[in-house]
Amino acid sequence: MHCGCLPSAINTNSTRTRRRNLKPCLFIYTLTPSLTLSLITTPSFPIPTTVSRRVLRMMNCLPLWPEPVVRVQHLSDSGIRVIPERYVKKPSERPSISESIDKEINIPVIDLQNLYSSNESLRRKTADLISAACREWGFFQVVNHGVSHQLMAETREVWRQFFQLPLELKQQYANSPATYEGYGSRTGIGKDISLDWGDYFFLHYLPMSLKDQNKWPSLPDSCRELVEEYGEEVVKLGGKLMKIFSVTLGLSENHLEQAFGGEIGACIRANYYPKCPQPDLTLGISPHSDPGGMTLLLPDENVLGLQVRHDNNWITVKPVPNAFVINIGDQIQVLTNATYKSVEHRVMVNSAKERVSLALFYNPRSDTLIKPVEELVTEEKPALYSPMTFDEYRVYVRTKGLCGKSQVESLKSPK
Ligand code: OGA
Ligand code: NI
Repeated sequence: MHCGCLPSAINTNSTRTRRRNLKPCLFIYTLTPSLTLSLITTPSFPIPTTVSRRVLRMMNCLPLWPEPVVRVQHLSDSGIRVIPERYVKKPSERPSISESIDKEINIPVIDLQNLYSSNESLRRKTADLISAACREWGFFQVVNHGVSHQLMAETREVWRQFFQLPLELKQQYANSPATYEGYGSRTGIGKDISLDWGDYFFLHYLPMSLKDQNKWPSLPDSCRELVEEYGEEVVKLGGKLMKIFSVTLGLSENHLEQAFGGEIGACIRANYYPKCPQPDLTLGISPHSDPGGMTLLLPDENVLGLQVRHDNNWITVKPVPNAFVINIGDQIQVLTNATYKSVEHRVMVNSAKERVSLALFYNPRSDTLIKPVEELVTEEKPALYSPMTFDEYRVYVRTKGLCGKSQVESLKSPK
């Protein structure tokens, strides 16, 4: 796939042509994302349109991956006993598997059954639990959420089957750093970045202008239909939660949705974490906070892996049957002036079983400026973040890869 802003000659196989044509884009390696961010976030330097446009142009200009992409599933299937150096994390970043799972502790589990009860006190109780979870954990599980359990199970299984298809079939959907859409195995374009033990498939569900079913897997047969239906149901659940979030923040019911620009973006990322011969040395996904609004995750019911940072410990999520794991993303942290927290999480892998999870990212309109809502900015708590569109924000993650909470932290206005 060629880079959006370059002449189509880039498709040629000649390395010389390729190199010459890629040149206009190489500045992305020299203009570091943090420099870009400091340019567009210094409050005394309001976002000049030229800079924003440059950032957006950069995004379209992301070149091809800097090196051949290795499918982790392929590595796993090859029967290696020792994982390649690129997947080995620094000792301080490795998972401490037994220690964390032993703990009885779990993220809050909230029953949504009473959300629409005629009993006001039951409604309030449920809303209060959600509010506390968003403030203290940034993560919770929901049951009785209204999404069909059968649809959830079928959609997860169709993705499991997709990843089991022969490599050549999946390669037809190989993604590029420009849009990330398709079959992928890395985040970030740095040449020597550390790699994670997982493959994924990323697709746009909303807005309609970005949705293109031809880019979704045509196999298994039912994949497109299931994803379509699943997306619709889960986006509906996201909308309900947005209303609850708004009300529990003391805002009118539609406030957050409006602050999202009135038009939702939704992307789906199916994650596939193959068996790993040395799970104690690597991670399926490195620590990160989700850049978007909120994430509705369908975890693998049978295989643990997701860990959430809480009070400086990594807590392993124990999935409740048929639940969704909900987490606050960076954009809601910014909108709520950090009342609701976008919390770091990571994924452990294991040697006995592969793991499949399905994340739906519920995002603001990509060209709407996201900034703390006025009602949540006070004298004691001035605006912590400068305005930025989600499009601009995403450039950072897509170029640099997953870096804990560094991007939302770097957005903070200087005191
Ligand atoms: C993600 C993510 C967790 C999981 O896709 O952003 O954090 O359990 N996934 O796969
Ligand atoms: Ni995540």
